[in-house]
Amino acid sequence: MDPNETVKLMVPGQVVLDRFKLVKRIGRGGMGIVWLARDQTLNLNVALKFLPEAVRNDPVALDDLKSEARKSIRLTHPNIVRIHDFIEAPEVVGISMEYIDGPTLAQLRLERKDKVFEAHELAGWVAQLCEALTYAHVDARLVHRDLKPGNLMVAGSNRLKVADFGISRSLSDTINQVTRENIVAGTLYYMGPQQLYGEKADPRDDIYSLGATLFDLLTGKPPFYSGDITAQIEDKPPPTVTERRREFRTPNVDVPEEWEAVISDCLQKKVEKRPQTAAEVAARLRLPANSGSYVVVDRERPGRQRAWNVALLGLLAVVALFVGIFFFGGRPGGEPAAQSETPKGGSADVAGPAGRSGVMDFIADSANLQLPEIPGVPEGGRFTNNLGMVLVPIERFYCSIWETRVGDFEKFMEVSGFTPAPGAMRVMTENDWQPDSTANWKNPGFEQTPEHPICGVSVVDALEFCRWLTEEDRGRGRITAAQYYRLPFGDEWETMVGPFDHPWEPQLKPQGNFAGAEAAEVPGWIRGRATFRDMDDAFPRTAPVGSFLENAHGVFDLGGNVFEWCIERTPTLKAHMRGGSWDSNISEYFLKQTVVNMPPAIRNSTTGFRVVLVEIGGDPAR
Ligand SMILES: Nc1ncnc2c1ncn2[C@@H]1O[C@H](COP(=O)(O)OP(=O)(O)OP(=O)(O)O)[C@@H](O)[C@H]1O
Ligand SMILES: [Mg+2]
Repeated sequence: MDPNETVKLMVPGQVVLDRFKLVKRIGRGGMGIVWLARDQTLNLNVALKFLPEAVRNDPVALDDLKSEARKSIRLTHPNIVRIHDFIEAPEVVGISMEYIDGPTLAQLRLERKDKVFEAHELAGWVAQLCEALTYAHVDARLVHRDLKPGNLMVAGSNRLKVADFGISRSLSDTINQVTRENIVAGTLYYMGPQQLYGEKADPRDDIYSLGATLFDLLTGKPPFYSGDITAQIEDKPPPTVTERRREFRTPNVDVPEEWEAVISDCLQKKVEKRPQTAAEVAARLRLPANSGSYVVVDRERPGRQRAWNVALLGLLAVVALFVGIFFFGGRPGGEPAAQSETPKGGSADVAGPAGRSGVMDFIADSANLQLPEIPGVPEGGRFTNNLGMVLVPIERFYCSIWETRVGDFEKFMEVSGFTPAPGAMRVMTENDWQPDSTANWKNPGFEQTPEHPICGVSVVDALEFCRWLTEEDRGRGRITAAQYYRLPFGDEWETMVGPFDHPWEPQLKPQGNFAGAEAAEVPGWIRGRATFRDMDDAFPRTAPVGSFLENAHGVFDLGGNVFEWCIERTPTLKAHMRGGSWDSNISEYFLKQTVVNMPPAIRNSTTGFRVVLVEIGGDPAR
């Protein structure tokens, strides 16, 4: 029997289960065929992995597989490809999962000149991989069992995504049961001896595969690749990376010592001799913790107390540049993406080359490893700061339950004397979005009370607020010297939303201040611009914070009211906005993953921000 035999008649345009419209075939793997499809219920692109016929025809195998898939569905991590559902139709069975628009590391390696990566090029991805493994092993207690370069994908912003968590190996076990043949999913090249013997899954199986994967990416081949692979995995010590590179005549044979040592330890035959955790691997490779991006952080550099200032100077320089381009270059400022398609804008670096060094410091400072212990606040408790902002603990940070209010910003302006850099604010008029030099954060063209969310602030304005608030709260002993406020990173924003796709969940009905029918009833709405006609949320423009139901974390207004500035974890720290606003009239804006890229200098009457409080971690000296 051919394990790859899935259903043959599949063509683009075909609708499966009345729900998934097939777009194109994107790959074939060990255990099935993968299609890009449109989930017409959720209005979302998904990857559908169709399983071999043999599985569909065996109810027991199918049940096993479903229960495995169910475990994987629980996994929620920015570096793990999300499994949505097990799908079952009369003609097919399959798994629907997050679609990743990007290559696998196996593909990327082949595009390299010498068909190998260098260690420093892998560092950022490996950091993210170790984070995903730590989460899966420690928090979710799940082992991947099929780690290999072909299951590591790279999405936008260099985000690493681990595919097929727990899925492909259980699939292969299932197929082996069904066919009574010993077919191994994908290949055995990356599998450790214990897995070969069929022992119970152990996180340290993944550590072996991690070693084999790194070996492959650095040399072009897994440790054992010809002859009797099984016997070699069981008994033969693997060559070192350097030896293999020499054998393959790779121009540069050297790899950093610690990489050589860690890989060799991961490939130990006995589980006790391997690094015991993914975190240990990351630490020994000296990878940036909680990196989330391909960033090489120089932790030793002196003068970090000035980090903020340097970063902000850099930001300001770039902002000046953007203001120039935007308002004097004749290009119209973009309303957050097109109204008809999924929002996706051009890039928006917060800091260009000018701000780079300072921004690197900023990222280094952002390696928040632990939940801040705030003086006087019981563990797990809420924290009310000097401005009366309420913050709740979520995993490794505290998050403001409200969008920053006009009243908060007013106090900041008053006390600090900060003057925003010049640049008109963009407001909605009947004739589209227009810069308006009379508008500002106090007067965005509609009435704002101190309880309304601040809007019309640039990223720099928002960061300056964070810096000031940090100094204030530190000065009054409300937070420690290691703690500070900043804008959330994109993945943190997703964590605030929780394991759901929409910010209002677990509420069933959409909750929040969107462009319902009421929005168009107030003068100034763009002529002819659509609204959600069946909705009336009672707030045509902004709503006082907390006017709608809170989410499962106790956080308000993540969906709608004002877009919230977030930062992407990239070397250039791109700014983007999330969550939709009072003017949002398409549902894509409210999806957790939707990112609207905007130049950081832009001031929109739809954009505000929310702060998080984090603690500098990993470096007790500071
Ligand atoms: N979630 C996804 N989003 C986008 N493309 C995907 C996704 N999953 C898989 N692919 C593409 O489909 C190809 C085949 O994937 P598949 O998982 O079936 O095979 P594999 O990874 O080689 O083997 P294994 O069954 O061991 O995982 C991948 O190489 C990748 O290009
Ligand atoms: Mg795969």
